[in-house]
Amino acid sequence: MSRAGKTKFQIDLRRHLREHYVNENLTHLICEIAEASKYIIHSISTGDLGVAGTSNLYGEKQLELDVLADRILRKRLDHSRVVANMMSEEMDEIIPVSPDCDGKYSVAFDPLDGSSLVDVNLAVGTIVSIFEGCDLLQPGRRQVAAVYVLYGPRTTLVYSVGKGVHEFGMNMLREYTLLQENITLEPQGSLYSPGGQRNLYTPGVEAFVTKLEDRGVKLRYSGGFVPDINQILLKGQGIFFYPHLKKQPQGKLRLLFELSPMAFLIEQAGGAASDGRQPILDLQPTQIHERSPVFIGCKKDVALAEEYIRKFEDGKGEVAEKKAKP
Ligand code: F6P
Ligand code: MN
Repeated sequence: MSRAGKTKFQIDLRRHLREHYVNENLTHLICEIAEASKYIIHSISTGDLGVAGTSNLYGEKQLELDVLADRILRKRLDHSRVVANMMSEEMDEIIPVSPDCDGKYSVAFDPLDGSSLVDVNLAVGTIVSIFEGCDLLQPGRRQVAAVYVLYGPRTTLVYSVGKGVHEFGMNMLREYTLLQENITLEPQGSLYSPGGQRNLYTPGVEAFVTKLEDRGVKLRYSGGFVPDINQILLKGQGIFFYPHLKKQPQGKLRLLFELSPMAFLIEQAGGAASDGRQPILDLQPTQIHERSPVFIGCKKDVALAEEYIRKFEDGKGEVAEKKAKP
């Protein structure tokens, strides 16, 4: 991993994309997402914390901020001239932008992940998944890029176009400049971020967690998927999981908006992401709002989760069926 701390010239996001031979349209798209995030961070810092009076498809109450962040991103992508279709965690259906797929991209996004943490002033983020052409219902392995923006004490942007994972920080001029290039994960870590209630864990997951704890790993869970993944990436180690639970076999997190893009970034950093049996990036989504269990982070830790799930749950009907409910 190279640090770009005290270089004479700050490399901004656009220049970095150009230097990595990213084509003009994709460069434009990623820069538009970065632009949108500047308005989102402003809304988070100053906006209304109230509920919007509406619910999303999952029955979760939408906050004013969810709706606003969604509008900001949607408008930006709509006007970008490089988007064919877009889909947000906050919308019920795919929004067609242009019937012409050539040279265009389709984008799935979670505009404000973890938004219920804003009122207690914890970190939240935006997650974006990008496919070439018109089709959004594709295995994550076909993504051409994934991006997240983390709104914490500082605002940072992490992206990959399949050529490593790179972190940028927002400076005083609200420009994103390079902080770290080619971030990599250790094969095994010493921290864990466990989602879901422990008393609902299935036997394999419970045995896996006990094994981790016997090894002396430390618990580091913020309740926000973006900061929790960012912690693993930047500490270079650890595992996050939001497993299948008793009576909730699909877990909680959404394949298209949350898991595929994060799995793409973590694999690019040399880590792994699994639903407990197979790589997240190989899952073929059958519907837009599909959920999946997830184990994501250091390769050996993810393999250990798979091993325990196989050992304790295979043939016992505990692991989720692939067909998901929204
Ligand atoms: O969008 C889902 C989310 O808010 C994630 O950011 C986070 O990882 C997860 O839900 C937390 O869920 P829970 O509140 O069940 O721990
Ligand atoms: Mn979310």
